[in-house]
Amino acid sequence: MAEALQHARDYTLSLFDSFVAAGMDAPTRVPQLRIINPPLWELGHTAWFAEWFILREAASSHPADANGNCLLTKGDDWFDSARVPHRSRWTLDLPSTGGVKTYCHEVLDRVLDKLSREANTDEALYPYRLALAHEDMHGEAFHYTLQTLGLPTPLPQTGEVLGAFAPSEISFPGGIIQLGSKAGTGFVFDNERQSHAFHVAPFRMDSTLVTNAQYADFVADGGYDNRQFWSQAGADWLMRQERSAPRYWQRDGGQWRTVRFGKLCTLAGAEPVRHVNLYEAQAYCAWAGRRLPTEAEWEYAALSGHPAFRWGQLWEWTASPFEPYPDFKADRYLEYSEPWFHTHQVLRGASFVTPSRFGSAKFRNFYLPERDDIFAGFRTCAWPG
Ligand SMILES: [Fe+2]
Repeated sequence: MAEALQHARDYTLSLFDSFVAAGMDAPTRVPQLRIINPPLWELGHTAWFAEWFILREAASSHPADANGNCLLTKGDDWFDSARVPHRSRWTLDLPSTGGVKTYCHEVLDRVLDKLSREANTDEALYPYRLALAHEDMHGEAFHYTLQTLGLPTPLPQTGEVLGAFAPSEISFPGGIIQLGSKAGTGFVFDNERQSHAFHVAPFRMDSTLVTNAQYADFVADGGYDNRQFWSQAGADWLMRQERSAPRYWQRDGGQWRTVRFGKLCTLAGAEPVRHVNLYEAQAYCAWAGRRLPTEAEWEYAALSGHPAFRWGQLWEWTASPFEPYPDFKADRYLEYSEPWFHTHQVLRGASFVTPSRFGSAKFRNFYLPERDDIFAGFRTCAWPG
């Protein structure tokens, strides 16, 4: 745990330095977009979150539930994501870049010191695991912020060789599975509980994600011009955005190019299509006579151990709206799941920037349907099931 926390913090700081190198550490120099945070705010927020749940032993994210004061006098006014409106994060009187970094180091030093005296139990380790998962998720958010702003990633690879698997379709017999995670199985987020039996009908599912070449066929066949492939919400989104191909695709003579972390490159046909939103995934399916998997089907397939089934390249849109499992109860981080039920859509899997310690076939990610800035793609299933 100590190593993981140290690694996560070093990694967060190295990602942050990519913004510093581009002069984007000062919030005023960062474009005010709904889909990103000013990196300096996000850096301070990750340390604040760890301080809140670990050092201040908060019973919940409610403002009255933490002990003592933040190491930074105004830390609670700056970095509480549930209470600091998104727009205002660009205009707070935050400490300097150096000041926020010093705060990050100080929180981590104290966290590691406290951890060294902690019992090795699920209950004692819960806040550490929560803060680690939170920081890992913000590491991924830093990455899609780099992509959104057209800045380079410090990672050696940016996922260019993602598609080296033979596509095939797998038939699964279905049956009863246990959705969600039982208590006493280490750390899980509240939305994975309660564990419950769930019946999955027989289904046929792609072993891999839909590729750029497959998606380009849809585009070439007038997919973005033909309303019949789009849901009403999807058609409305398309009208607003005036899209004729996925975000970042650029036509160059006879081929498509794309932008990866600020670099223009040729779109490789065999790679999974990425930066598509739910509406685009649904429209592709309608065109191809296919459908998206439900999250239960996805989990069944991923846990089946089938040797041809590949996941972990990109987050995968599912057909399932983000809804609570039966007998849901919010955990200490009250705003993690509950405010987003019914408006967001479930994505399963992991992406090439998700740390491997975080990856789980049972993890439920969730985003608004129109998000195409995240590292998401999709796979399809045959009709009817
Ligand atoms: Fe957060």
